[in-house]
Amino acid sequence: MLKGSFELIGDKSISHRAIMFSSISQGKNKISNFLMGQDCLSTVNCFRKMGVNIEINNNEVYVTGKGLRGLKTNDNIDNLLLDVGNSGTTIRLMMGILAGQNFKTTIIGDESIGRRPMKRVTDPLRQMGAIITGKDDANLTPITIEGGKLTHIDYHMPVSSAQVKSALILASLYGDDTSFIHEKVKSRNHTEIMLKSFGADIQVNNLDIKINPVEELFNRDIYVPGDISSAAFIIVGALICEGSEVLIKNVGLNETRVGIIEVIKKMNGKIEIVDERKICGEKVGDILVSYSPNLIGTTIDKDLIPKLIDEIPIIAILATRAEGNTIIKDAAELKVKESNRIKSVVDNLKLLGANVEELEDGMIIKGKSSLSGGTIKTFNDHRIAMSFSIANLISNQSIILDNDKCIDISFPGYFNLLKKLSK
Ligand code: S3P
Repeated sequence: MLKGSFELIGDKSISHRAIMFSSISQGKNKISNFLMGQDCLSTVNCFRKMGVNIEINNNEVYVTGKGLRGLKTNDNIDNLLLDVGNSGTTIRLMMGILAGQNFKTTIIGDESIGRRPMKRVTDPLRQMGAIITGKDDANLTPITIEGGKLTHIDYHMPVSSAQVKSALILASLYGDDTSFIHEKVKSRNHTEIMLKSFGADIQVNNLDIKINPVEELFNRDIYVPGDISSAAFIIVGALICEGSEVLIKNVGLNETRVGIIEVIKKMNGKIEIVDERKICGEKVGDILVSYSPNLIGTTIDKDLIPKLIDEIPIIAILATRAEGNTIIKDAAELKVKESNRIKSVVDNLKLLGANVEELEDGMIIKGKSSLSGGTIKTFNDHRIAMSFSIANLISNQSIILDNDKCIDISFPGYFNLLKKLSK
C-alpha cells in the first residue's frame, strides 16, 4: 500500500515556459520549484547556447533575460546547433521563438524526436514568412530555421496542441500586426497565462486568441506548481493498492489539466482536493487520494482528451481494476507522443494478460482483470515506464521495465518517492 504525504515536483510544461519566457524578457528572473528533469534541462541548455545566463541552485533557477531580439550565436558560428534531446515541448515552442531571431539554427534531438511530426508547426510558421528547411519538407529533425522578419497570422488549428498554439503565440510577438489563433478544442493554457504576466498583449476569448506584437517583455519571478501529470502515477497507485492513503501537496490544478480528476470521480475513485489557492495565475491545491475498491469503467473522449492526454497510459492501468468497459477514443494524438502510446499500452497490457482491444484512436479496457508479470517494452518512454511500475504494485508476478532511466525525463527521484510511500 502507499501511505504518507509529499511535496510534488514542478510542472514540466510550466518549467519549460518559465525558462523560455525569462530568456526573452528584459532583466533578472527567479524560477522556484523548477523541474530538474532531463527535458527541462534540454531547454536550459538550448537557451544557454544562445547566450542566456542561467544559474541553477537546487530547485531555483536564475535567468538573465536577453530581450525579445537579444538571443545570439557565437560570432564565429553561422548555423547554431541546438539539441532538444527527447523534448517535444522544447523543439516546438522554441521554433516559434527562433523564427523571429536574426540568426540561423539547426535543431536536432534523439531518436524519438526524429519520428515526431513538426509540420504542424512548420506550416503555420512558413505562412508567417519563416524560412524553415529539413527532412521530409521540414516535418522531421534535423530542422533548420533562418530567423528573420515575420508577418502575422489568422490560423485555425487543425489539431488540438498546446505546443503548436504556444509556438504560434511566441512567433506572433515578433509579427508585423495582430495575429489570431483559433483552437477547436481547448488545450493547456500555461503560455497564455504566463506570457501575459511578462507583459505580452494577449486576449483570450474561449477558443480564440488575439496577440499583438510587443517591443519587449518584462522580467518577473515565477513559482512552478507541482505537475499533475507526475502526481497521476502516485494517485493511481493509491487508488488501486489496498489500504492506501496519500496526500499530495502543491499540485497544479489548471482546469485544462485536471481531466484525470474528473475521470477518477466518474470511476468511483476516492479523490478530494483540499486547500485550493492561486499562485502566479495558476490554480494549486493538495490532493487526498485513497484506496477505492469499487471502481467502474467509463468513456473518455472528445473535449476531455486534451485535458488528460499525458495521463492516458496510467488511466489504462487504473481501468484494469474497474468493473466493466473503459472506452478511450478521439485520442489518435497518442500515436505521435514519445512513443506510439496506443500500441505501447495495448501490447504491454496484453502481455500482462489484461483484456484490452486496440482502436484506431484509442483502446477499450475490459475489467476487472488481474495482471501477471513479464518484461515491459518502455520504448524509452518515461510515462510508459512509470505506468507499468505502478502496474507492478498489483501484478501477481514481477513486472520488469526494459529501461527505467527514461523516467528522469520528467520525474527525477521517482523510485525513491515510491519506496518512501510503500508500506
Ligand atoms: C505539452 C503539450 C502536450 C503534452 C506534452 C506537453 C506542452 O502536447 O502532451 O507532454 O507543454 O505544451 P501537444 O501540444 O502535442 O498536445
